[in-house]
Amino acid sequence: MIVVGALAMPLPDTLGYAAPVWVLQGLSYFTLSLHLLAMNFTIGACLLLIWTHFRNRAGHAGVKHFFGSSLPLGMSYVITLGVPPLLFVQVLYGQLFYSSSVLIGALWILVIPAVLIAYAAFYYHKLQREARPRYQWAVVAVATTLLLCVGYIYVNNLTLSMSPDKWLRIYEAHPGGGILHHGEPTVPSRYLLFLSGAFAAAGVALLWRGAFLFRWGYDTEANQSQKLGFRAFLLSPMLWIIAASWVYSSRPEDIKAMFVFDSTMVLLAVGVVSALVAIAFAYLSVGKRNLLFPLLSSLGIFGGMVCTVVFRDQVRLEYIKPYLDIASIPVNAQWGMLALFLMALVVALALLVVLMVKVLPKIAEGARERLEKTIAAGRT
Ligand code: HEM
Repeated sequence: MIVVGALAMPLPDTLGYAAPVWVLQGLSYFTLSLHLLAMNFTIGACLLLIWTHFRNRAGHAGVKHFFGSSLPLGMSYVITLGVPPLLFVQVLYGQLFYSSSVLIGALWILVIPAVLIAYAAFYYHKLQREARPRYQWAVVAVATTLLLCVGYIYVNNLTLSMSPDKWLRIYEAHPGGGILHHGEPTVPSRYLLFLSGAFAAAGVALLWRGAFLFRWGYDTEANQSQKLGFRAFLLSPMLWIIAASWVYSSRPEDIKAMFVFDSTMVLLAVGVVSALVAIAFAYLSVGKRNLLFPLLSSLGIFGGMVCTVVFRDQVRLEYIKPYLDIASIPVNAQWGMLALFLMALVVALALLVVLMVKVLPKIAEGARERLEKTIAAGRT
């Protein structure tokens, strides 16, 4: 045990890490970036669905239908891609993450029912929206609120895991675990930072949709989808700039000093370039059937996400320096286990791709049938 502010913090596992730290970090960065991408898409899709419901301009019904069909898929990716980083955060920072999870335990456990209710609500919306159209927007709004609460609980838990000096005080005041990381100045800005990609992720999905609609000959709907997608996309860089400046200004001075290190600046520069690539190709996608531009824009978003995730971990390492140095933990590499894990990961990712390839044409087919019906109804 290490004593931090008179609070016992468990020592790292004496068996050490089962793989070199850089391997564990690399896998954690990759899978967490995918998780955050799926999470941003799902939240962005919910917000745009509700917005198009109330705005109800030309082309909005199709957009609403498209997002309504995609939400269960998006949610399944959020959950599936959340599991691998959950394993890695426990391996790398277990004694910090477990302790903070116990301290906010009552609220932490609520994540499970919240995720399940939101997932069920998305299925209810998809399957019942035609039969029971009234208040479907409210079903999606409740699910969105639950997801936003889950994200907020995650941010509270992860910032608390980086602050062992506060644990004893929090435990003494709330031994029942019914409290979050109140008073931590970085929580709201960090929350906004991780959700700022929501409009870009959902916006790029509309660019893809538009490209396919062009290919099927629905030029008007394609244009409407891409224009809305691009306008929504632009909200993300604006929110990101606000959130990043806010995060920076709310950090303690020693953490702010990190921002002038060479490697940190390189990471920031790569992130900004990725974001600019994403915006440029999103702009170029508008009005075109070309699939390459939405693909490059999506890759740009992913690049920006990876930089944010790596940066986030560097900040965490700086925060926990007085309590834990992961570089000093012994490595007892178990290459056989690692190979098995990597094989399972590759198979799981391949299955997710197969799922997408199987489900997306069905969503597209539904959209096509809907458009044909709408056009036929307009003629009669
Ligand atoms: C459904 C709604 C969800 C939302 C909105 C959400 C949002 C977030 C956010 C905002 C973060 C960053 C927190 C921070 O660094 O301050 C995060 C991290 C994380 N999420 Fe999710 N999440 C969701 C569901 C899940 C689920 C179901 C899992 C697991 C199965 C999961 C696993 C993780 C893990 C492990 C991390 C942190 C990993 C690390 O620190 O290395 N999330 N999530």
